[in-house]
Amino acid sequence: MNDFFQKWELDPLKLPRHVGIIMDGNGRWATSRRLPRVAGHKKGVERVNEITEFAVKCGLHALTLYAFSDENWRRPEEEVSALMSLLRWYLKAERNKILDNNIRFRLIGDRGKLSSDILEMAVELENASAANDGLNLCIALSYGSRGEILRAVRKLVEKVNCGEIYLADIDEQYFAEHLDTHGLPEVDLVIRTSGEQRVSNFLLWQSAYAEYIFENTPWPDFSEVHFAESLKKYSVRERRFGRTPEQANPASAADSKSDRQRIHLKAVKATGQ
Ligand code: FPP
Repeated sequence: MNDFFQKWELDPLKLPRHVGIIMDGNGRWATSRRLPRVAGHKKGVERVNEITEFAVKCGLHALTLYAFSDENWRRPEEEVSALMSLLRWYLKAERNKILDNNIRFRLIGDRGKLSSDILEMAVELENASAANDGLNLCIALSYGSRGEILRAVRKLVEKVNCGEIYLADIDEQYFAEHLDTHGLPEVDLVIRTSGEQRVSNFLLWQSAYAEYIFENTPWPDFSEVHFAESLKKYSVRERRFGRTPEQANPASAADSKSDRQRIHLKAVKATGQ
């Protein structure tokens, strides 16, 4: 195990492949410091960079960050505009670092609602990083899972209507290939910061079997220490995907069987039976 994993006490074999994060609490973080809400979002961008770097070092396959939901368009115009400016800044400032770190960048969400300059910058970065095979960094922007599912349904209905596919061709895998996240593995772990225990229309299809971790820390304070803790919590969860514990984890089942045998032998010895 290399120094990084030792330092953070992480087992590289027990890490999630795909982590989704609902970065919540920027507003409350700022308000509690008597700062404007946008100060929380600014601090939030610093955390985006820190957590992305950590995900690269861990060798995660994909990290999806919920930066702006479909519902966030309902916020006051001033806040929406400040968030969009931050995103512009992020795309410009982080472009080269993303490319140098072998990160493949991707935007997910309703692109039709984004302003043309943000979309152009994001698409340019998607294209420039398309051959990178390190971390897949997905920024969910103007994103809502229900909307994404509906867009996929529309694409499929169109394909059926024009005779490209039969209705019977649509299975779960084929359906998933029409989501914004096509080509990425299902989400293993969803982290939500700041204490709320809600899913908020985030990756509903992709997280069907995800583990959820709700952290009290607000996103602007969510450091690599908190991220490492969440990854550690994930690594001891037993994921069964509908199977029994013995089926899901034959090794531990064998352990518990030999434990039972040991206990039985001890009991036999003690009672002389
Ligand atoms: C939720 O906190 C957070 C958001 C709506 C925006 C998240 C955006 C960033 C972290 C910065 C931009 C991201 C990138 C990728 C550059 P909230 O404002 O709802 O907080 P509250 O619940 O305390 O009000």
